[in-house]
Amino acid sequence: MYTIDIPASTPYKVHIGTMLLEASGELVRTACGGERAVIVTDSNVGPLYAPIVSQSLKSVGYEVFTFTFSAGERQKRASTLIDILEFMAEHEFSRSDAVVALGGGVTGDVAGFAAACYMRGCPLAQIPTSLLAMVDSSVGGKTAIDLKAGKNLAGAFWQPRVVIADVGCLGTLEPEQLADGCGEVIKHGVIRDSRLFAQLEQTPLTTELLHSDLGMVAAIIARNVEIKRDVVAADEREAHARKLLNFGHSAGHAIEALEEYKLGHGSCVAQGMVLIASAAVMRGACDASVPDRIARLARRCGLDTTCRWDADRIYTEALHDKKRAGEHIDVVMPHAIGSCSIECMSLDDFHELLRAGDCRHAACGHEDMAQAAGQEANTL
Ligand code: GLY
Repeated sequence: MYTIDIPASTPYKVHIGTMLLEASGELVRTACGGERAVIVTDSNVGPLYAPIVSQSLKSVGYEVFTFTFSAGERQKRASTLIDILEFMAEHEFSRSDAVVALGGGVTGDVAGFAAACYMRGCPLAQIPTSLLAMVDSSVGGKTAIDLKAGKNLAGAFWQPRVVIADVGCLGTLEPEQLADGCGEVIKHGVIRDSRLFAQLEQTPLTTELLHSDLGMVAAIIARNVEIKRDVVAADEREAHARKLLNFGHSAGHAIEALEEYKLGHGSCVAQGMVLIASAAVMRGACDASVPDRIARLARRCGLDTTCRWDADRIYTEALHDKKRAGEHIDVVMPHAIGSCSIECMSLDDFHELLRAGDCRHAACGHEDMAQAAGQEANTL
């Protein structure tokens, strides 16, 4: 088992390993205390894992309640948040009782926000069951719901008291869900760790790896959590350095909206990363191999890297993103694998940047890249 200490304003531990759901009661009790626990989960994850977690929580003395909502990105909304809060109030939760978020990114975000709100804040345990939640969203204290105007527009920084990542849960993910998390894993390699990136080029994180070497998967997740720890420890509330974690996301979120949320987050972020890396190459700021290395690795992880939208559409959509501050936007520019910087640029400059990325990308040919993806399946 890996245990990683996160030195946030309220420090906590991230545990990564197998058979941790069975041990979750003890870990939650030590970190959160309280008498009652509400497991917040969705209709996909709940039937699989809530009984194990519930049993474990009961075995250490918790009175346990389970709140289950319909699975899906659309449930990350105000009505789900209110329903959780009402459920806790109905069951007479106090501010020292615990919220246990059991599931993927949506569950962690909405349950985390409920913990931040209920009686102005109560203890939160994150039990991520998707790769994306294990390597990214369960760590660092960002919680949120979506509003009609956009994603994550209401939320709070609320650090969990403990994160429990049982890698055995990854076995029940669909390949597309696993690939979604790979988008963030690749991002971590590009912003901070060329060795991790090269290791993934040797052995991508796929369903095959999950079945052949769960120990290596746990080690990859642990390395990702360390990267996130280092970034979050330097800048918990995203004043500056934490923006590194947004690499590819302004364009990626725009692509996600243009695709009407039917294309996975990982694929959209991969396309955003390739677009920005291509633009950085055009500006002479980045090693020329970077965009293709990102695209190639993303495809091997099962992500769709063929962007169907031109720079002007992406720019218009990206203007809605909350990461924009007035007439400026912070853009994470890669220079090499493992090395990025944050550049504050005018919206016009950002528009030109996207166009430059689009041109470079078009010059090497979307179709060629798609064809290459097909060939790779045979040759790599
Ligand atoms: N997922 C980006 C962050 O936690 O800052």
